[in-house]
Amino acid sequence: MPLVRVDLAKLAREELERWADTAIARNMDLGYKGPEEGIEITGEPHLLRELLGNLVDNAIRYGRVGGEVTLGLTSMPATLYVEDNGDGIPLSERELVLERFYRRTEAGGDGCGLGLAISREIAVRHGAQLAIGDNPYSCGARVTVTFSNIEGLPHKN
Ligand SMILES: Nc1ncnc2c1ncn2[C@@H]1O[C@H](COP(=O)(O)OP(=O)(O)OP(=O)(O)O)[C@@H](O)[C@H]1O
Ligand SMILES: [Mg+2]
Repeated sequence: MPLVRVDLAKLAREELERWADTAIARNMDLGYKGPEEGIEITGEPHLLRELLGNLVDNAIRYGRVGGEVTLGLTSMPATLYVEDNGDGIPLSERELVLERFYRRTEAGGDGCGLGLAISREIAVRHGAQLAIGDNPYSCGARVTVTFSNIEGLPHKN
């Protein structure tokens, strides 16, 4: 994969614009918390867009109608997260939802259970780790991707 310098802050804000209408249709407040620019990593922009898109798609799909979806970004190491106010993902299923084709019985809708598996794969290819947790501010999920500063560091799959 051809690697370039990517500003995650710019990429994230561009990606969020693509989801604005979908969020409005669900009466959700789609927001960005982070710097306007300057969080650089080495990566492949199309794959990173797909990763972000999958996480935002899930947060809008499984989050609470009328609630908030927030994409946040912090530095050192570059870390991005997407959180929502839905029912969240129970501890017992956090590994399972990362497997291909696994969907929670509550999920409904027409997904095929690939978004998170693909996202984790993209994260791993970037030497990053994807973790599923709770939204610290309310109910709902927070999915975090942490990009290691150190290239070539061994990572868990
Ligand atoms: N933010 C979230 N809140 C609650 N459940 C979630 C969230 N994100 C994912 N899930 C659960 O994890 C399952 C797997 O998610 P994943 O994105 O891999 O597949 P999908 O959304 O079902 O289909 P698609 O391939 O279209 O993304 C979902 O079916 C849903 O049950
Ligand atoms: Mg999905």
